[in-house]
Amino acid sequence: MQTIRQLKPLRKAIAGFRAEGGRIALVPTMGALHAGHMALVAEARKRAEYVVVSIFVNPKQFGPNEDFGAYPRRTAKDTAMLNEAGVALLWMPDAEAMYPAGHATSVSVREVSEGLDGAARPGHFDGVATVVAKLFNQVRPDIALFGEKDFQQLAVIRRMAADLDFGIEIVGVPTEREEDGLALSSRNVYLTEAERLQARALPRALGTAAAAIENGGDIAEALTRAEAAMLEGGFESVDYVALCDAATLQPVTSLERPARLLAAARIGAARLIDNVPVVPKNLSAMRVNHSSKP
Ligand code: PAF
Repeated sequence: MQTIRQLKPLRKAIAGFRAEGGRIALVPTMGALHAGHMALVAEARKRAEYVVVSIFVNPKQFGPNEDFGAYPRRTAKDTAMLNEAGVALLWMPDAEAMYPAGHATSVSVREVSEGLDGAARPGHFDGVATVVAKLFNQVRPDIALFGEKDFQQLAVIRRMAADLDFGIEIVGVPTEREEDGLALSSRNVYLTEAERLQARALPRALGTAAAAIENGGDIAEALTRAEAAMLEGGFESVDYVALCDAATLQPVTSLERPARLLAAARIGAARLIDNVPVVPKNLSAMRVNHSSKP
């Protein structure tokens, strides 16, 4: 595996892959890799000859009071994991290579960015869209893979890739979970042992609410119960629990199309997010549709 930190050698290496022929897949990450990231890499390897992984802790997607400084950085371990997984190239620019002095352009995706985490973390999705647009232009992959764990991020990137004619297939990969249902996240390292146990209240509350809604239960009541279950389970506060259209992420009040139940809640030093599909019974074959072709 080649590790590259500057744009010029990156372009040369990508041109080399192109000259050999075959598809290039990009897996963008902020490092602190876990089995969720490695599932993206494994899926990328099935779909492309060359897998490029980027590691860049993007300052533009962290708010002023968020955890940019504390975000886990484990370059040596990450590099070994990617090497072992058969990744062709690790793109690891520093902040100066990504945002040279004078950088002044921001990508903003309206509507799908605005609610949920967009409301709770102003500017976050502009930061994500900007860095992902840059990564797409730097690597020029055929496909790019993102975890469904960050479901709103995936929707924002799909919208951006379509709107800006990137011609890149965006693939969403299902969330990897611990045995008790907790979604894998680099931020789980912030949880103490006791909080880690309490954190399972989040996937449990979502699972219970999703089943109730799919079985025809009242949506508002299911959301209220899910919030109460998280607070009873040990979360200190709940930023949102919402049922949204799976494509547009606009809130829905009846289940007629595939929907997504999303939540964000705070426990100790961690803010955890999670989501599950909620599909009308007559459409349950539509549960799996992870790719948006250009
Ligand atoms: O999901 C992430 O790790 C980041 O938001 C991403 C997509 C790598 C952009 O910085």
